[in-house]
Amino acid sequence: MSRCCLEVDDLTPHDVGTVLDHALEWKREPASVPSLLEGSGAVGLFEKPSARTRIAFELAVVGLGGHPMYVRGDEVGLGVRESPADVARTFASYCSVLAARVFDHDVLQVMADAVDRPVVNLLSDRAHPTQALADMLTLREHFGVLEGRHLTFVGDGNNVAASLAFAAALCGLEFTVASPPGYELDEDVAERARNLGGAIEVTTDLHEAVRGTDALYTDVWTSMGQEDESAQRRQAFEGFTVDDALLALASDDAVFLHCLPAHRGEEVSASVIDGERSLVWKQAANRMHSLRALLALLLESTVTSNVPTTGEVP
Ligand code: CP
Ligand code: NVA
Repeated sequence: MSRCCLEVDDLTPHDVGTVLDHALEWKREPASVPSLLEGSGAVGLFEKPSARTRIAFELAVVGLGGHPMYVRGDEVGLGVRESPADVARTFASYCSVLAARVFDHDVLQVMADAVDRPVVNLLSDRAHPTQALADMLTLREHFGVLEGRHLTFVGDGNNVAASLAFAAALCGLEFTVASPPGYELDEDVAERARNLGGAIEVTTDLHEAVRGTDALYTDVWTSMGQEDESAQRRQAFEGFTVDDALLALASDDAVFLHCLPAHRGEEVSASVIDGERSLVWKQAANRMHSLRALLALLLESTVTSNVPTTGEVP
């Protein structure tokens, strides 16, 4: 039975702790990374662009002794030339791990259901779990202990915010999402995260959300695939820029996080993202360390057959 990570809540608090522990340990001692993918392939399918995630995934696979392969969505014709389930079955007949960045989260679920291999979400419209794990790693490195800290996300309550809600819940962080009306974190996501024990607040009150927080996080106002809405979004998010005045409301030792890519002058000022409280380049580097530890966790707790699951093609 394969273990997948399509959203952070596919993991237990213990799993997340193991991922963070191994990420830190192997970052210090790369020679101790286990060769869990020795002689195996791992495929990363991308329907959208990537600078960090692709490289983090490929190097994570190399670190585990495997051979990474990058495939573009339009190259395989995902859902056009071939169904996602058949693409997944094909990949699974060569590869020990499948990972994908997709427009539609349901496509990932179809792929995961079709194969007996770990499937990892490298970003979908709903979730970005490998980013949230890197963010937890970055905060743990910085603060030492995550429990009891307060993380505030400012901006669009979509994929990155959703995964942070689950990660925060599993790591014992208080989590607040402040968004303009109409762009709030989905209430179902907030409720699911609360059911995991998370202290999750969803608000449109930006200043209250930021007051005294330990970490301030933002993401682009227009995500990949939403480019047609960018003018409307720029208007809707006006006033939600993380700038020095907003950061001044946070705690004295507050840090700034951003998943990147960033748009200086929109969701964040140059003075904040390039300032001394910014951890964004540590976050970017930690994508590889956390992904490597996540892949190891999924591989270690997966018993795979060499034959992909067969069944009806949807
Ligand atoms: N943060 C992140 O996922 O970056 P890329 O889109 O460049 O992979
Ligand atoms: N919310 C952004 C995250 C990019 C890493 C997007 O989906 O484009």
